[in-house]
Amino acid sequence: MAVERVYNFAAGPSAMPESALKTAAAEMLDFRGSGMSVMEISHRSALFQEVFDGAKAKLKSLMRVPDTHEILLLQGGATTQFAAIPMNLLEGGTADYAVTGNFSGKAAEEARKYGKVHLAADTSDTGHDRIPAQEELSFSPNAKYFYYCANNTIFGTEWHYVPEAGAPLVCDMSSDILSRKVDVSRFGLIYAGAQKNMAPAGLTVVIVNKALAGRELPITPKILSYETMIRTDSLLNTPPCWCIYMLGLTLDWVIREGGIPAMEQRKRQKAGMLYDFLDESRLFKAHARPESRSWMNVTFRTGSDALDAEFLKGAAERGLVNLKGHKLTGGIRASLYNAVPVEGAKALVEYMKEFEYRHV
Ligand SMILES: Cc1ncc(COP(=O)(O)O)c(C=O)c1O
Repeated sequence: MAVERVYNFAAGPSAMPESALKTAAAEMLDFRGSGMSVMEISHRSALFQEVFDGAKAKLKSLMRVPDTHEILLLQGGATTQFAAIPMNLLEGGTADYAVTGNFSGKAAEEARKYGKVHLAADTSDTGHDRIPAQEELSFSPNAKYFYYCANNTIFGTEWHYVPEAGAPLVCDMSSDILSRKVDVSRFGLIYAGAQKNMAPAGLTVVIVNKALAGRELPITPKILSYETMIRTDSLLNTPPCWCIYMLGLTLDWVIREGGIPAMEQRKRQKAGMLYDFLDESRLFKAHARPESRSWMNVTFRTGSDALDAEFLKGAAERGLVNLKGHKLTGGIRASLYNAVPVEGAKALVEYMKEFEYRHV
């Protein structure tokens, strides 16, 4: 039976590489001659260990994770890390948080339960349409870490520089991991919910400098302790086996496509097409300021809720789906994660041009 795929611009869970889905489908009933699917085998079996080690090794190689850092494959989504980070790293002291969107705001709120939070920046005054410059960041003396979110999925802004802070950098890369080169050695901790550029929802990747582990508050549950998870190689309990398998298949695709440089080039091509059109459009207006624009989540609107709704309806009819903006912002959002093909962005721009022609 012929399968008709749409162009899926969802913010997460989001599009996955077709080759990964096909391999998973082909291996569903009999994984590597076991007569079982990956979902049905023990997480303590040699067969699963191969899957686990393979996914970790591919991620280590693609992101060039140095031996000083450990990759953890955890559960609980990015939101669990909002609590795990202060429980492990704050030691009841002060941490600096740059609040540039919804998720960094939530992370700061959670951290306040475990110590003091100093706002190094807060861009809510302009509707989170920008990323602060290095000179605007305010640091507190003796901060345990500096926290920021590299890409604001909802507002469509992205840090185009790595901030210089006296304290270890802690970064939420949920929505731009594997889409740009990152010097991991500069970070104390990087984490990401997998459901955008990596795997199905249910897996959280944490890359932590091992020197920062072992300082958790006594109340920290074992399952949230970086020290425990490093010691048990993320296998304290049953890990999200299926998601880890899918991560491996996605990483195979990233490697075949040319690695992170290829992903970066492609995201610039896709978002570039949209921003080029938005800059000359007489109907659509981008939300983010030009110097802070995200290359992953492009947010825009027509200025009329009724026209936005008409645009979304027409888009869905053409197989351009999940373009509705987040409820906090309204409007339209095109999430251009790694697995969204360049043709998808082209089709979207063509539709925008046509829609504008009809309405202006
Ligand atoms: C940048 C960012 N951080 C955190 C989250 C929360 O992730 P989760 O739903 O995995 O807890 C999201 C969700 O979209 C996100 O985009």
